[in-house]
Amino acid sequence: MSTEPSTQAIEWERKPNGIQANMPAYAEAAKDFDWKTVEAEFDWSKTGKVNIVHETIDRHADSARGDAVALHYYHPEGRQEDYTFKDLKKLSSQFAAVLKNAGVSKGDRIAVFLPRMPELYIAILGIHRVGAIPVPLFEAFMEQAVFDRLENSQSNVCVTTPTLKPRVPQDKLPDLKQLILVESNGELAANEISYEESMKAAPEWVEPEWLTVDDGLVIHYTSGSTGRSKGVLHRQYAMVGHYQTSKWSLNLSQDDIYWCTADPGWVTGTSYGLYGPWTLGVTSLVVGGRFDSDVWFSMIEKYKVTMWYSAPTAYRMLMAAGDAIPAKYDLSSLKHICSVGEPLNPEALKWVKKVTGLAPHETWWMTETGMHIICNYKGEDFAIGATGKAFPGTYASVVDDAGKELPPGQIGNLVVKPGWPAMMQAIWRNKPKYDEYFKIPGWYASGDSAIRDEDGVIWFQGRADDVIKTAGERVGPFVVESALVEHPAVAEAGVIGKPDAVRGHIIKAYVALMPGYEPTDALKQEIAKHVKTHMAAHAAPREIDFVEKVPKTRSGKIMRRVLRAWDSGEDAGDTSTMED
Ligand code: WT7
Repeated sequence: MSTEPSTQAIEWERKPNGIQANMPAYAEAAKDFDWKTVEAEFDWSKTGKVNIVHETIDRHADSARGDAVALHYYHPEGRQEDYTFKDLKKLSSQFAAVLKNAGVSKGDRIAVFLPRMPELYIAILGIHRVGAIPVPLFEAFMEQAVFDRLENSQSNVCVTTPTLKPRVPQDKLPDLKQLILVESNGELAANEISYEESMKAAPEWVEPEWLTVDDGLVIHYTSGSTGRSKGVLHRQYAMVGHYQTSKWSLNLSQDDIYWCTADPGWVTGTSYGLYGPWTLGVTSLVVGGRFDSDVWFSMIEKYKVTMWYSAPTAYRMLMAAGDAIPAKYDLSSLKHICSVGEPLNPEALKWVKKVTGLAPHETWWMTETGMHIICNYKGEDFAIGATGKAFPGTYASVVDDAGKELPPGQIGNLVVKPGWPAMMQAIWRNKPKYDEYFKIPGWYASGDSAIRDEDGVIWFQGRADDVIKTAGERVGPFVVESALVEHPAVAEAGVIGKPDAVRGHIIKAYVALMPGYEPTDALKQEIAKHVKTHMAAHAAPREIDFVEKVPKTRSGKIMRRVLRAWDSGEDAGDTSTMED
C-alpha cells in the first residue's frame, strides 16, 4: 500500500475538440447544489407515480426520442440487433404480462441469470414494470454462488437459459416456483415457461405498477471480509443519483453513444448500464461474448462510441495486447472515458491516453453507495493517482476510528456523510450487517483507506479490511475459505489478495492438508478447480501454498496479516496474539 501519493498534476484535457463538459466548474457546481432540482427532472415529481421503467423507457418512447436506439446489441459470434425506446416499451410490457401470468407481484424478488443478451435487459425492465425487484446474477456463477443468492433473496422466479439452468439447484430452493427459459428448445418441465412462446401471446402494453420512491429497485450481492455475500437493496429513489452522476461525471447527453462494459450482474452494469443512461434517454451499446481486444476496439469504430466506461483490469488487458490493435481502428469518436473498480495505475492510464487521446477519469463508488461518490470530472485537471472530489451534493471525508476528520495528508478511513440519493436501503434480511457500515459515528464507512490533500482531493490508498479486489470484482476471503475446506484434502485454509500487474490482485490461498494427502501440484489444481466449479472462476485461487498450519488468533480468527507478510517476504510484525 503506497502512502505517498504522486502529485504529478497533468493538464489532462482542457475541453479537447471544443467539447464542453456538462458540469459547470466544480466549485460552482457544488455550491448550493440541491437534489430537489434533480427530482424535478422526473415525471414522478409531478404525478407522484414512481416506477423506473417509466423514467428509463416509457417517457422516452412516448416522446420524440421514441424511435431513437436505446440498445445496440453486438455479439461477435452471434446476434447484432438494435432496440429503440419504443421497442423496449413493448417488449418490457410483454415480459411484465408473462410475469403477471406467473403470479408475480409487487415486491417479489425475481432472479435474472442470463448471459449479456437483449433478453437480460428486457427481463430487468419487465420486472420493474410489475414492481418486483430484480436480482441479477453474473453468468459465470456456479451452483453454490447461485444457491446463496436465490436462497437469501427468496426469489420465486428465475429467468435463465437451458445452458445455465443446471447450476440452479431447484430442489434446495423451496421459494423458487418457476423458471422462465430463454432460447429453450421447446422441451419444458411443468414449472417452466418458454420466454419466446409466452411473449408471443402477451399484450403490447402493460401499465407500470405505481410505486413510491422508497420501494425496492434492485438487489446486488457483494462480499465483505466475513460471512457469505450480502444482498444490497437499493430503492427507486436511487434513480435521482444515477441520473445526475451519469450527466455530470460520465458526461452523458442524448448525442452520445455510450458503452459501459460492465455486466448487470454487478452494480456498474445496472446503475450505469441501464438506469443512469436510460433515465437520460441515451443510446447504449452492449457487447456480448468474451473479452477480446480486437473486438473491443472495433466496437468503438463500428458504433462511433463517444463515451466509454470500463475498468482498470480491462484497460490493462488491452494494453497487454499491444498498440497495434488500437492503431487499426478509428477511435476519433471518443469524447470521454471513465474507470471504476480499483485504482487505475499510471502506466495503464497513460497508455489509454496515448492510444485514444483521452485519459480515463476515476469514479470511486461501491455496490452499497449505488452511485458515483468521488470522481475526476471532465474539463477539470487532475493529478495521476488522484481519486477525485466528492460529487456535488455529497460529502466524503477521511476520519479516524472515532469519526474525527483528519488533517490533510493523514491516512484514515474513507467515509461518506449518509443521505446521498443512491445510498443502499438495507442489507437484505441482515440488519446487523447493515448497521456495521455505520459504526463510525455520523458516517457511512466504506472499508477503504484514503488521504485527503490540501485541495480537498481524495487519494484512495487501499482496502482497510480483508476484502480482495481481483480483476475489479470484490471477493470475500471467507467465501473462498469455506469453499476450500469443503474439499476432502483441505484441513484449513486462509485466503489473501496478492498484488498482480493485470488483475490488481489475485486470490492466493494458504492450505493445510488433512493427514495422508501429498502436497503435489496436481492436488493444487484439483483444489482450485473445486472452488471454480462451486462458486465462480473469479473466486478460485490462482496460487496455492501448502503450509503446516494456517496462522490464527487464540480465538480462532485467521491472521491474514501474517499470510500477507509470508507472501511478500516481509516481517509478520506482532504475532503475540497467535495461537501457540
Ligand atoms: C470497492 C467497491 C461500484 C463500482 C464497482 C466496484 C474499490 C471502486 C474505485 C476507484 C479505487 C475503487 C474500492 C471500493 N473501488 N472504484 N475508482 N479507485 N478503488 O464496486 O465491487 O462494490 O467494490 O472497489 O475498494 O470500496 P464494488
